[in-house]
Amino acid sequence: MKKTIIVYGTTTGNTLVMAEEIEGIFKEQNADVKLAEVTDVQPGDLADYDLIILGCPTWGEGELQDDFISFEKEMNKIDLKGKQAACFGPGDSSYVFFCEAVDILEARLESCGAKMIIEGLKIDGDVDEHMDATREWAEKILAITDN
Ligand SMILES: Cc1cc2nc3c(=O)[nH]c(=O)nc-3n(C[C@H](O)[C@H](O)[C@H](O)COP(=O)(O)O)c2cc1C
Repeated sequence: MKKTIIVYGTTTGNTLVMAEEIEGIFKEQNADVKLAEVTDVQPGDLADYDLIILGCPTWGEGELQDDFISFEKEMNKIDLKGKQAACFGPGDSSYVFFCEAVDILEARLESCGAKMIIEGLKIDGDVDEHMDATREWAEKILAITDN
């Protein structure tokens, strides 16, 4: 069975809500999944997993959430060739750089050699109102990875 890690960063809790929903879908299908806050993980730990899911909201003007900033920088030292990856995050389309954090993390994962297996999930506004989209996204990942 594939080993999956979901790493999230959050300031006001929305990304955690999404991350727990995704974790729940994986667990329902008996997948081997670990949920971790970015502050509790080192970039090098990602190499222990087959599927890496990063969840990060966009703050400032198109920036990563605070706790993800140093993590993303330090990712430049790791090799993720052969790994599958996916990114998600909440945002607000009234900002110029809507869900830019998802794009930043996808670019970083690709530069580490990981393969993005699904389009990043960008949720606009209230995450609770978009739970169906989050669930469907997680289910698609499970189908793609045959997890
Ligand atoms: C000061 C501020 C700046 C923000 N900047 C952006 C932004 O540039 N792009 C975006 O899509 N959303 C932006 N947002 C919206 C947040 O990403 C959104 O509230 C998100 O749900 C927060 O996630 P969290 O609860 O996991 O921290 C911003 C929100 C605030 C309050």
